[in-house]
Amino acid sequence: MCGIVAYVGKKNCQNLLIEGIKRLEYRGYDSAGLATIHNGKIRIVRAVGRVANLEDKLESMGGLPGTVGLVHTRWATHGGVTEFNAHPHADDKVGIAVVHNGIIENYATIKTLLEEKGHKFSSQTDTEVLAMLIGELYEGDLESAVQAALREVTGAYAIAVICEKEPGVLVVARKGSPLMVGVGNGEYIVASDGAAIISHTSQAMMLDDYNVVKITADGFRTSTIHNVPVTHKVQQLELELDEIELGSFQHYMRKEIFEQPKALRNTFRGRFNAEEGKVILGGLADHAKELVKAKRIALLGQGTALHAAMIGRYLFEDLAKIPATSEFASEFRYRNPIIEENTVAIAVSQSGETADTLAALHEAKDRGALALGVINVVGSTMARETDAGVYLRVGPEIGVASTKAFVGQVAVLTMIAMWFGRRRFMGANDTGSLLHQLNQIPDKIEKILGYDDLVKKVTERYIERENWLFLGRGYNYPTAMEGALKLKEISYIHAEGMPAAEMKHGPIALINEGMPAVFIANQGKQYEKVMSNIQEVRARGGHVIAVATEGDTAIKRYAEDVLYIPDVPECLSPLLAVVPLQMMAYHAAVLRGHDVDKPRNLAKSVTVE
Ligand code: AGP
Ligand code: GLU
Repeated sequence: MCGIVAYVGKKNCQNLLIEGIKRLEYRGYDSAGLATIHNGKIRIVRAVGRVANLEDKLESMGGLPGTVGLVHTRWATHGGVTEFNAHPHADDKVGIAVVHNGIIENYATIKTLLEEKGHKFSSQTDTEVLAMLIGELYEGDLESAVQAALREVTGAYAIAVICEKEPGVLVVARKGSPLMVGVGNGEYIVASDGAAIISHTSQAMMLDDYNVVKITADGFRTSTIHNVPVTHKVQQLELELDEIELGSFQHYMRKEIFEQPKALRNTFRGRFNAEEGKVILGGLADHAKELVKAKRIALLGQGTALHAAMIGRYLFEDLAKIPATSEFASEFRYRNPIIEENTVAIAVSQSGETADTLAALHEAKDRGALALGVINVVGSTMARETDAGVYLRVGPEIGVASTKAFVGQVAVLTMIAMWFGRRRFMGANDTGSLLHQLNQIPDKIEKILGYDDLVKKVTERYIERENWLFLGRGYNYPTAMEGALKLKEISYIHAEGMPAAEMKHGPIALINEGMPAVFIANQGKQYEKVMSNIQEVRARGGHVIAVATEGDTAIKRYAEDVLYIPDVPECLSPLLAVVPLQMMAYHAAVLRGHDVDKPRNLAKSVTVE
């Protein structure tokens, strides 16, 4: 799930590995470990907690020399967070070390067989089983042993393997978890994320599922787990070093919240012409004929991406008049979904690697849907497995709590819905005026960001409260869900987001004196209804924080605190309404003393089920 960096080349690699894995710290992890080969011996150092703990250990033992090595950050799935369970894991026969992201699903069966053969395990992980299996199958060639072992396993993996008997060799492989090989000058840096590679080389080879690569300082060979040779293009990594550095900001999340205007300007660049009312999405062009026949849209995602997908549903029905559904990819994939003819499935994902979304995408494709991606990470697995799509172009998102990717997803879904709408019911004037409004969203977000001090003050007022409600209607019901998710993720405050009308059906029982209820109460079709819901909260002693439209002074009579957003057509309002909620969550976490970028128990991308 978390981080792998591996190196083979001509220089001592410990520092490079540590620097690389530090760039992946944002992905969330609970322990770390590093191994190198030196004078034909593998040495492994592991530590619970931060990479800094691993560095301390390495320093106190004088470091690990070696020109071949690997490092890992673990996000525990099998076995507690202990040093024994941290990677790398070794076998007990040959001298093999393995780091692994993912889950070996049939590890228990394999473990029993290996135990019967006399292997002794020192951890509870599925990964150690893989290390032992590779050792067991080793007959003098690491690449063949890895291929053979991977033919036996089910599940998801990105692995890097070294072996004392072949000290200049690194073997890596993937299925379901990302991995790429950075190609430098006489050296190769393998990583699960481009951020660990970019300061050394911008040339990389993306691996596909079931690929195995044998790498030495002199070159590499790619094959499948069945040893069928594979040719891959080395491509340019679309990543800039300053995009992944913190600069003057205290946290990535804050940086990314403040980057939203710039990010959206990038999302929009060249993709519409408001004067002519045209939406120009190159990523849809090849499938335009099929797409215009769409009778149904199925939007799929998890977490924040699902909230964007939920807004997408409203957008498709409103602007394109196409029946649309949005749902948890994890439910869709196991639910025996009905995919009618001319269904378009849209996978919404920042990372493009989320296991559930990817599996749902496969399910939809297998059942005949045309698959679109609304994805941020270029070249990610989903991006490669969709038939067409539109990238978010918001730049790398490092903060675990997704912010700029959310507005990017909503903006792209708006453009796609208008692309469809223009080919169906929307005239050039309708699209033109909405596009003009869309184009102004970045400036309007900038204005909201200017209220940062006020948002902080409001948050401070409720910071001791352990239960919050987030309520909205229509387009801003998903925004309310997103506001609650942000608060939960980083401040660990219990928050629930729901349609404002749903409150009366049960959650109203939670409201007591002083409980904060955040209402998205912008001007729109259901404004009066939201006002009634606000009254219901106040009547029970709850405190209302309203996100309202500029100029709505009347709302001050009903709400303890008001955060204003500029006026925009209702379908664009989530792009603005979410911003004060992101800022509130950020301030709440900082005020409570939490590490905003490394929230407990969370990983940036969830590549296991
Ligand atoms: C958002 O703050 C979360 N970290 C999480 O819900 C995330 O949106 C979800 O895991 C989906 O990730 P994806 O966009 O990379 O597919
Ligand atoms: N399943 C493995 C473990 O629990 C790997 C987890 C990870 O991806 O970090 O150790």
